[in-house]
Amino acid sequence: MKERTLAILKPDCIKAGFAGKVLDRILQAGFELVAMKLTKMDVKTAGAFYAVHKERHFYGELVEFMSSGRCVPMVLEKENAVEDFRKLIGATDPAEAAEGTIRKEFASSKQNNIVHGSDSPENAKLEAAFFFSEAELIQNKN
Ligand code: RTP
Ligand code: MG
Repeated sequence: MKERTLAILKPDCIKAGFAGKVLDRILQAGFELVAMKLTKMDVKTAGAFYAVHKERHFYGELVEFMSSGRCVPMVLEKENAVEDFRKLIGATDPAEAAEGTIRKEFASSKQNNIVHGSDSPENAKLEAAFFFSEAELIQNKN
């Protein structure tokens, strides 16, 4: 059964001009776009998106980074989308990411790691709803 995941091209990806290359990698890997937008999160929005990490030592820097520039959230559809997308992007720290993964190729640090991917189908639904209305998802499926 087809599954959906929520991805974000992070501010470092957009600033470095990698958006096209990374999106190409995602599409070539068989993910179908269901919704996509260009946005800039303010501190409050970025803090809310990563609220699950609010007790972690890196939370403040993460919120600053994610609100530092434009980003591109998107909803992607594919069989086994959540797990397959995590495989495509690789480990959080590019130094630990497998060869051929997006983070290995493009990311510069554990924080500035180019792309976000949901970590479960349940979180994918919540995260998709964070950025997109139901109507936006349906509209883009037509
Ligand atoms: P993401 O949620 O963005 O897809 O990344 P992830 O699951 O691979 O990693 P997660 O543990 O959820 O961390 C969220 C983001 O926080 C930044 N981070 N910095 N400096 C650090 O030790 C550190 N650890 C995590 C990264 O931007 C990471 O993607
Ligand atoms: Mg995560």
